[in-house]
Amino acid sequence: MNPEVLTAVAAVRSRLDPVRRAGRTIGLVPTMGALHAGHGELISQARREVDCVVVSVFVNAPQFDRPDDYRSYLINLQEDVAFCAARGADLVFAPPLEEMYPQPQRTFVEVADLSDHLCGRFRPGHFRAVATVVAKLFGIVAPDRAYFGEKDAQQLAVIETMVTELNFPLRVVPVPIVREADGLALSSRNRRLRPEERRAAPVLYRALQSAQERIRSGCHSAPEALRPARQLLDACPLARVEYLEVVDAATMAPVARIAGPLRIAAAVWFGATRLIDNLYLAP
Ligand code: PAJ
Repeated sequence: MNPEVLTAVAAVRSRLDPVRRAGRTIGLVPTMGALHAGHGELISQARREVDCVVVSVFVNAPQFDRPDDYRSYLINLQEDVAFCAARGADLVFAPPLEEMYPQPQRTFVEVADLSDHLCGRFRPGHFRAVATVVAKLFGIVAPDRAYFGEKDAQQLAVIETMVTELNFPLRVVPVPIVREADGLALSSRNRRLRPEERRAAPVLYRALQSAQERIRSGCHSAPEALRPARQLLDACPLARVEYLEVVDAATMAPVARIAGPLRIAAAVWFGATRLIDNLYLAP
């Protein structure tokens, strides 16, 4: 059955109020559309865990730090709704920009420290805009559970921290990264890769794996662990590394010595397309 598509905040509230009153649980999967099997995994997991699955499809303009990235972020709502239907979602919330931002936004959520490293360093204002729109979505949908991919590990950490520190009454559910057969993490931006860039892109995952292997075989120094990864990426003429780091899994801050749960995280440009990926490791 096709999910209901709602575009107004008030309509979502009046649709979900009786659901909540009936004691049924609500799950929210926030997305920017252009849905693929990575998003699909979030929706499927929500379907297994809650009574009413809401997928939001909203290309949040303020979180784009580059106008060209925003302009080329094309989504097809009909296709996305059909995708949500196939995964069993009950409701798609697809507001126009003016519905989410009827006036210039004055209230923002800023998760300090966590937003300073990795993507936060290279995308000023990005995580503030993400945390703010997600807080708005939580206010609109009031879900019991909200699903986020580990693909965007720093985003996940930012949202988990926001939920804890602002006492949102919901549980954040992390979902493992969905990959192509060659290891490339699924991303809406993969479709922008030129054929030769697409062929080269799995080097990102191989690089992360090489660091993971070094750490697993006892290497305790982050720069040492990253050396073969860096060599792999440097040897690929189509790849340009923005960052490649071993970070503390809780704080997302780069570490030099390896101890405790961590993530090996990288952002790499292939031509005009920026890809991110990470691996979790608990040594
Ligand atoms: P978007 O990039 O559309 O991603 C929506 C969700 O899907 C995020 O939680 C993301 O981590 C997850 N996801 C994307 N690719 C994945 C993959 N290969 N495996 C597992 N999960 C994957 O992230 C955003 O949108 C926005 O920042 C948003 C949270 C909606 C706020 O605007």
